[in-house]
Amino acid sequence: MPNRLDLPSDFRWGASTAAYQIEGAVDEDGRGPSVWDVFAARPGAVRDGHTGAVACDHYHRYPEDVALMRGLGLDGYRFSIAWPRIRPTGAGETNPAGLDFYDRLVDALLAAGITPLPTLFHWDLPQALEEEGGWLNRDTAHRFAEYTSVVVDRLGDRVPAWITLNEPFVHMVYGYALGIHAPGRALMLDALPAAHHQLLGHGLAAAVLRERGLQVMIANNLTPVRPATEDPADLTAATAYDALHNRLFTDPLLLGQYPDLSAFGLDEDLGGTVRPGDLKLIAGPGLDGLGVNYYNPTRIAAPTDPGLPFSEAPIDGVPRTAFGWPVVPDGLRELLVGLRDRYGAALPPVTVTENGCSVADEPAPDGTVDDPDRISYLAGHLDALAAAITQGVDVRGYFTWSLLDNYEWAEGYHQRFGLVHVDFGTQVRTPKASYAWYRDLIAAHRARC
Ligand code: NOJ
Repeated sequence: MPNRLDLPSDFRWGASTAAYQIEGAVDEDGRGPSVWDVFAARPGAVRDGHTGAVACDHYHRYPEDVALMRGLGLDGYRFSIAWPRIRPTGAGETNPAGLDFYDRLVDALLAAGITPLPTLFHWDLPQALEEEGGWLNRDTAHRFAEYTSVVVDRLGDRVPAWITLNEPFVHMVYGYALGIHAPGRALMLDALPAAHHQLLGHGLAAAVLRERGLQVMIANNLTPVRPATEDPADLTAATAYDALHNRLFTDPLLLGQYPDLSAFGLDEDLGGTVRPGDLKLIAGPGLDGLGVNYYNPTRIAAPTDPGLPFSEAPIDGVPRTAFGWPVVPDGLRELLVGLRDRYGAALPPVTVTENGCSVADEPAPDGTVDDPDRISYLAGHLDALAAAITQGVDVRGYFTWSLLDNYEWAEGYHQRFGLVHVDFGTQVRTPKASYAWYRDLIAAHRARC
């Protein structure tokens, strides 16, 4: 069996974060409010009323955080750019101080020998755009492309590859269908325009990136879907769920068409949302890389609620993270091989842009943070990734989620995903045992190549 040390010699090691989850400084240097500032302030929206106002204070402490990355020996660092720092009202005036921050960050990364991999949208839409309908409004896609051109005009000389969107599926479902993330809309299937407009935003932004000779990626949250039983009703439900979760945001990019969503009562133009030419624009000449965020598989059974064509079934007999998510490392191999089988030559090189787990980590009396469960999670998933490569899938890199403990959205500061423990009272950073493990793995892999 191949293992993580057998990964290809040019395999890229990384770690990921996102702006609202780590930066803090929400009122500084001209940043405008985002949907997350507004949502988090809503009573009961986030556990214990936590907000990202301070988070990891990365906005001020980024030199220390880049030093931590250098200590790991990372090849790449995936972070996101806060649109409301660059364009405080989402459109119109650009805020130079916002660009300056990312300029400093990019230079610090390059000086540390780390390639920046920015995400242009990781869920923190400027609130002013939300007031115009957010991603339900087609114009937001155009505003996104304008913001993209401002950012790449400043950073494109030093940053070769860009991720347009992070997890558009999760943003649509949690933000617009269920209302458990910002902007807190609970529209159920009427949220679908937020899918198409995000994809349109991707297509328009991708054209801006390509014009400047930059590489285009997207980070999709994907899950292998397992039917609960072989019963035809469960199989049908699994097919419907797979179309919604995996294909909705990948087929248009790689195949230039939407999957069959008739189980959801939707036709090909998503109820009149898709206009002629949109799908061509979304697919463009193709992606330079597909980012895959993998956490766990999903088990699907026949519907129990008449409003949806599926229901979720528990995955039993496996360990669970502090979040309660099932730990199934081989699901990553299954997912990657499944992507290759589904898309064949249309599948671009893949990078795992997120993978990791939350653990209830606290420092021991001697100050150390021992997180064996995270080490075994990462080791298992990296072995699964190596197995997928052996099975012929072109996977170029692995970015663990996350560098730092951070603001886990509706869970506030309660879920710790970092290689580095953050004391949110003092902002003291303590590398965990998993940090040393990852550092040593990267070094051992390089020594072997
Ligand atoms: C997906 C998201 O991109 C990231 O923001 C989040 O913190 C992790 N997964 C863990 O839930």
